[in-house]
Amino acid sequence: MAGATGDLGFRIAQALLRRGAVVRALVRPGSIKPEVAQLRGLGAEVVDVDFNSVIALTQACSGAACVVSALSGLRDVIVDGQKRLLDAAVVAGVPRFIPSDYSIDYTKLPNGSNRNLDLRREFNQRLDHAPIQATSVLNGMFTDLLTGQAPVVLFGLKRVMYYGSADQPMDFTTTANTAEFTAAAALDPTAPRYLRVAGEVASVRGLQQAASQATGEPFKLLRVGPVSVLGGLIKVTRALMPTTDEVFPPWQGMQYLHNMFMGLPKLVPLDNARYPDIRWTSVREVLATKK
Ligand SMILES: NC(=O)c1ccc[n+]([C@@H]2O[C@H](COP(=O)([O-])OP(=O)(O)OC[C@H]3O[C@@H](n4cnc5c(N)ncnc54)[C@H](OP(=O)(O)O)[C@@H]3O)[C@@H](O)[C@H]2O)c1
Repeated sequence: MAGATGDLGFRIAQALLRRGAVVRALVRPGSIKPEVAQLRGLGAEVVDVDFNSVIALTQACSGAACVVSALSGLRDVIVDGQKRLLDAAVVAGVPRFIPSDYSIDYTKLPNGSNRNLDLRREFNQRLDHAPIQATSVLNGMFTDLLTGQAPVVLFGLKRVMYYGSADQPMDFTTTANTAEFTAAAALDPTAPRYLRVAGEVASVRGLQQAASQATGEPFKLLRVGPVSVLGGLIKVTRALMPTTDEVFPPWQGMQYLHNMFMGLPKLVPLDNARYPDIRWTSVREVLATKK
């Protein structure tokens, strides 16, 4: 596993261990993150590795049945770093690779509509030509974001803010469910190239109902305008903001919402039933945790 010290990656490692897998976590040399000791405590092997060295990565990948990436970053990580990890996995003879995708369906999006997903599409084109069996997990938006970063369910105003149609279906999956499903896929040698899941498919109207049920207070809808208005706002925000190497600047989240409100990256068909032991968490359950 690469990225096992991250939010999603740590949960994938835990889910793999719960399923009885042998987990080797590749971490940056000298990492002092608490997850390193926790991974060891849970029974994972932790290996310091120079992610810039294909030779070091090859050694670290040797003997693995599957390389799982949960790395997060921009081009240097998602394209260049994962290419080195992929080259290492191929040289080491690892049969399978799961890239750090965990997103809406970027295969259906045009270039330029979502900076972070453009990088994933670019890496996956390389992955498609590598002599290794690949599986990408697509899960829509992390439901957890609805109680934090995503400005959609406005708890203070009791409104669900949106652009376009209140009836456009969208995919939401919790980070925990995404991790459980990814772990199951990593241990499934018959997993296909793409697996699509959604803990819940909900429209804005569905989010309104979930928020009202979760809080016991009625939520109303707040339509800002057509999706093209959000497109304009993204251009303005991007132009006004200094160039940054942040992975998730505000306009990146707006690009994600723009994609979802358009409906293009809707996941279909869903593979939720592939590993029947997974219990999918609803949007309402997540919204009910909002303090
Ligand atoms: N669908 C959604 O709504 C959604 C939301 C959030 C995230 N995601 C996706 O989930 C995946 C994981 O994200 P996350 O939130 O778990 O990320 P995170 O918490 O920031 O963790 C990133 C991991 O990548 C490692 N890493 C970053 N740069 C590295 C480098 N240059 N060399 C080696 N390791 C490096 C980090 O190592 P250190 O611990 O050493 O820093 C950490 O283990 C990403 O693909 C992300 O886009 C999807």
